Amino acid sequence: MYEQISHAILNDTLRQLSTSKQDKQWQFFYTRLGANFYAIYSLFHHLYGHRPDFKPQLAHLVAVLAERYGQRSAALKAQDLAREQDHAWFMHQKWVGMALYCEGFAGTLSHMQTKLAYLQELGINMVHIMPICDCPETNNDGGYAVRDYKKIDPRYGTEQDLDQLIHLMQQREMLLALDVVVNHTSDEHAWAIKAKQGNATYQDYYYMFDDRTLPDIYESTMPEVFPEQAPGSFTFNAETQKWVMTVFNHYQWDLNYSNPAVLIEILDVILFWANKGVDILRLDAVAFLWKKMGSSCQNEREAHLILQLLKDCCQVVAPSVLFIAEAIVSPTEIIKYFGEDAVNAKECEIAYNATLMALLWDAVATKQTQLLYKGIEGLPEKLDRATWLNYVRCHDDIGLGFSDESIIAAGFDPVSHRRFLVDYYTGHYEDSNAKGFAFGVNKKTGDARISGALASLAGLETALAKQDVSAIDDAIATISLLHNFMMAFGGMPLLYYGDAVGTLNDDAYLIDSSKMNDNRWVHRPTLDWAKMDKRQQKGTVEQRIFSAIKQLIAVRKEISAFADLNNRALIALDNPHVIAFSREVATGMHARVLVIANFDVQAHCIPTQAFQQKGWLKQTMVTDLCSGQSIPLTAAGIVIPKLTAYWLSI
Ligand code: GLC
Repeated sequence: MYEQISHAILNDTLRQLSTSKQDKQWQFFYTRLGANFYAIYSLFHHLYGHRPDFKPQLAHLVAVLAERYGQRSAALKAQDLAREQDHAWFMHQKWVGMALYCEGFAGTLSHMQTKLAYLQELGINMVHIMPICDCPETNNDGGYAVRDYKKIDPRYGTEQDLDQLIHLMQQREMLLALDVVVNHTSDEHAWAIKAKQGNATYQDYYYMFDDRTLPDIYESTMPEVFPEQAPGSFTFNAETQKWVMTVFNHYQWDLNYSNPAVLIEILDVILFWANKGVDILRLDAVAFLWKKMGSSCQNEREAHLILQLLKDCCQVVAPSVLFIAEAIVSPTEIIKYFGEDAVNAKECEIAYNATLMALLWDAVATKQTQLLYKGIEGLPEKLDRATWLNYVRCHDDIGLGFSDESIIAAGFDPVSHRRFLVDYYTGHYEDSNAKGFAFGVNKKTGDARISGALASLAGLETALAKQDVSAIDDAIATISLLHNFMMAFGGMPLLYYGDAVGTLNDDAYLIDSSKMNDNRWVHRPTLDWAKMDKRQQKGTVEQRIFSAIKQLIAVRKEISAFADLNNRALIALDNPHVIAFSREVATGMHARVLVIANFDVQAHCIPTQAFQQKGWLKQTMVTDLCSGQSIPLTAAGIVIPKLTAYWLSI
């Protein structure tokens, strides 16, 4: 949009930029900057317009964009142009991701290179490597306490190792996702060290207070993120005799985005990684970016404006790079991280579907699908050119983040239902084989979350210990059912390393004093590759799980209806254990698919009238695309075996 004030500023700023930036290769920079500048200016003005340094800070921001554009390689610039042409490229059903710790998965970045074949064997073509930036030896929250944003932690290797890995991944047409920990730094980051030394410029990078007056006001409305291991949201710093805001752990200092210098520093970090050739940047803990006294300091409007600004700027320099919003908040809030009042995503193109993840675990525990149905029904429609990251497990805990209203609508009482779920997954419920642990128990509010490896939560660990063959079968079926659902739902599936062979809880963290108080480490294993190799041995648990998931991935990629185009319709069934939805696109192979999933431990026969009214399932046999099996349709209906989902081509 053309608007006089912002364009006068832009023209002034550009005149000051070096004349070398005027040759032909800069034309794309200028067209993109021109297209986005009114938005950039308006957002920057909204956030910082009241400051006397507004104009020089804005000029600095533009200079950073120009600098980083100048450094972007010709190959990445070509990729930008190609992806602009095919702008919905990431919504295709061919993408299937995996999140992993470099250390636990392979040891180092160079060893990662030797594991690409394994990933490709499974069908993975998007890899999220969890934080690899330099961080302190112990106080690091699994890498989410960064000491140097632009340096790779020597434990994982060197910059050259990463370059090599990226090169090999590109050859295999695999995408790379890396984290940018935008909300906080380690207290050992150079900025924090200068702040501790009394440097006022850097103290203004954080929230630091001389006494408890303001921290007390903030804390009175801020929920605690880690109530057990890190209660409160402030930490006393002895060097400065000040209280520092530390929403997560005491060594993770929250960045102060009311200071434009912070925003520009982080933008520069984002562009640094974009220029390395990273395809997707996972922006960590984005719900927390703006702090406002008297609020929960989560999901504030300014947090969204910051993300819009970062997106608008990244589009100028590196438009092919996508953002993932890591915002594990309520369903109505999560959706806003795509951007509101827009058609296309204007904040993050991808967001974690934490709601679906929690709903799936609810369905497994209750063996019923009412809450899953209500929760999906209540999930607001996402924007075009935006997609969910669907997952069942990740490196974090499971928060029971569905709304009270949906629990009530499903016929349960919110408090007792949540308590049941925690009991179910932590072994305090007689009828459960699940082996998980309560995490983040808040004695004041009664809230709790759940830690544990997928296979252990699904009952495999207990079943194996009891050598109970039918319980082992059920656990394997549950693992497969969960993966099946997330592959079919719409969005990019994100597997978690180890889950494709049924990796169980790992107790090793209990002997490490820096980890023992954080039971999320129970599901952050160091993979045993001898066990991984059992995926090749017919009949082993590893092989049964691996082959099932591999098959799901391969088939998903063939089903054009599974592209994420807001093309899912729930179908109401008269059975509390079974859920069905259709996926449709206009053209392509398997353009119309009906997904029917039974979460119960016994088979259910579903009458087909409801489907036949839509013109589906009129034949006597139908094919399940997952298994290739022919399924009979009788007068009584279609039988869905226990813990099974069918993908029916209709
Ligand atoms: C994100 C990460 C989590 C970390 C937190 C603080 O939620 O996923 O592991 O503890 O941010 O950085």
